[in-house]
Amino acid sequence: MIKTETADGVARIEIVRPEKKNAITVAMYQQLADAIAAAHEDASVRALVIHGQPDIFTAGNDLEDFMRHASREAGMDAPAFKFMRALVDADKPVIAAVNGAAVGIGTTLLMHCDLVYAADNAMFSMPFVSLGLCPEFASSLLVPLSAGYHRAAEKLLLSEPISAEEALEMGIVNRLLPPGEVLAHAKRQAARFTQLPPAAVRETKKLLRSGWKTAVEKTISEEAQRFGRLLASAEAKEAFTAFFERRKPDFSRFA
Ligand code: COA
Repeated sequence: MIKTETADGVARIEIVRPEKKNAITVAMYQQLADAIAAAHEDASVRALVIHGQPDIFTAGNDLEDFMRHASREAGMDAPAFKFMRALVDADKPVIAAVNGAAVGIGTTLLMHCDLVYAADNAMFSMPFVSLGLCPEFASSLLVPLSAGYHRAAEKLLLSEPISAEEALEMGIVNRLLPPGEVLAHAKRQAARFTQLPPAAVRETKKLLRSGWKTAVEKTISEEAQRFGRLLASAEAKEAFTAFFERRKPDFSRFA
């Protein structure tokens, strides 16, 4: 489930499904989309903080939902798209606090946050290829933009995990902190926005992103088409089945 709390001008959005490593289900995507919309409608909110549990940010999209194609069934109307759309279009600052692993959409969503603080033992990964999938929500554009092509290729083509230090070098994280201090720091940074003029913050956020906004939109729709096709592929089926059977996937029969 997704818990939300608004206090002192900051909306806090918490991913709470520790028994499944905070994997995000269709219902949770909808709740995330609703939480972001509510924070935007509430004029008292100046900034949003997204975080998970002390030992896990999120294990990404729920893989059972992926197996049923449930999370992408309705295309652009799917709750996952509504959530990411709300994040991409958010005009208030969004701050992420990452403890533990941020897998798949857990790392992708960070590309659309404004400030990212992470534990010095956090782990990031975008294992789309190893799952028979491809990047989504403009990560194929934004990761090379932050990290450079070759580093991005290593992480995306080989599905290599990214350590906290590497994430900092790649420019996808602002600062590393001891695990127990991450959320408090993110909240302090969020609180700073309550002291700043909100229209100036909104306009500046828009300007910071305007250089690649058109490219982001184009990439999101190109990725979605490819992702949808791959989700239904035999390669993806083998990858998901192997995860739940706790074995190594075997892609040797595919051409
Ligand atoms: N979807 C559905 N269930 C998931 C999940 C996911 N993305 N990630 C973890 N789970 C479930 C496991 O199936 C397990 O359930 P069970 O206790 O009923 O068997 C439980 O969460 C604990 O996971 P486990 O793998 O035992 O935890 P771990 O600490 O050894 O490893 C991760 C944590 C995040 C490294 C590992 O769970 C993982 O790699 N998950 C899949 C990540 C992924 O590929 N996401 C999709 C990206 S596009």
